[in-house]
Amino acid sequence: MSYDKSVSDHYLHGNLLKAIEAALSHQGKSPETVTIDDLASVDEFHIGGRLATDILIDQLNFSEQHHVLDVGCGLGGAARYVASRYNNRVTGIDLTEEYIQTGNALCSWVKLENSVTLEHGSALLMPFQDSVFDGGYMLHVGMNIEDKTSLFKEIQRVLKPGATFAVYDVMRVRDGELSYPVPWAADSTISKLSTPAEYKQALSNAGFEVINETYRREFAMEFFKQLREKTEAAGGPPSLGLHTLMRQSAAAKINNMIANIANGYIAPVEIIASKP
Ligand SMILES: C[S@@+](CC[C@H](N)C(=O)[O-])C[C@H]1O[C@@H](n2cnc3c(N)ncnc32)[C@H](O)[C@@H]1O
Repeated sequence: MSYDKSVSDHYLHGNLLKAIEAALSHQGKSPETVTIDDLASVDEFHIGGRLATDILIDQLNFSEQHHVLDVGCGLGGAARYVASRYNNRVTGIDLTEEYIQTGNALCSWVKLENSVTLEHGSALLMPFQDSVFDGGYMLHVGMNIEDKTSLFKEIQRVLKPGATFAVYDVMRVRDGELSYPVPWAADSTISKLSTPAEYKQALSNAGFEVINETYRREFAMEFFKQLREKTEAAGGPPSLGLHTLMRQSAAAKINNMIANIANGYIAPVEIIASKP
């Protein structure tokens, strides 16, 4: 099996749109009434969810005129949020076909199909022309991609000069044996974590200038604490959430990720760069 297929099989659900629709109906919502905020618990598949997206894009100076690229967009939650916040155009690309099909259906549910386009493909070989995007970001994607220099070269190719690109990934911050499964991998075969120094080297190999780097370990631990308190107070998780995506394996994957962060082996880190 090819490496890309192993990655997309890892994320494959099989009946995701129907599962989201069923979970929403428990909350009294339907495709006609759902909002992007209702979807955030399932379509922002990274530590800190919508809050983390907001914190990141606050630093990026996107505007109404910008056409923005979302690399490894998943279901496109961040893409829809950016497009509705800035009233601009966002294009996402992702390896997992089911996420793209589901994500495009979600775009039409919330009537953003004219401003958000999600395409199936690899971030390492994108079907886009040179220098077409005004800015971009990548949320929790590099953990599945070993060759980060090739990844950033390909992203650099499609950005316009002067564009800003932000990475928010789980990175390796100290040696030590990780517990699996985690949300991005069932075992070490498709887990390709790199250190912040390796990310910065790969960005600069690809011609980016690194502007800023922020460790988000404390933010992550506080986010998990609040989530646990909220879940306990409500007597269980809401019907729609990351468990809708990851099903039975969700608790083990999330608990292992939290333990790996608590042990100081991995952490979410933001790196902001620009194309000169
Ligand atoms: C943890 S999910 C994050 C999804 C999305 N960025 C979000 O934050 O909601 C990781 C995503 O990376 C995608 N991915 C992994 N390797 C990729 C590649 N080479 N090209 C494009 N997408 C990739 C997966 O298909 C998956 O949707």
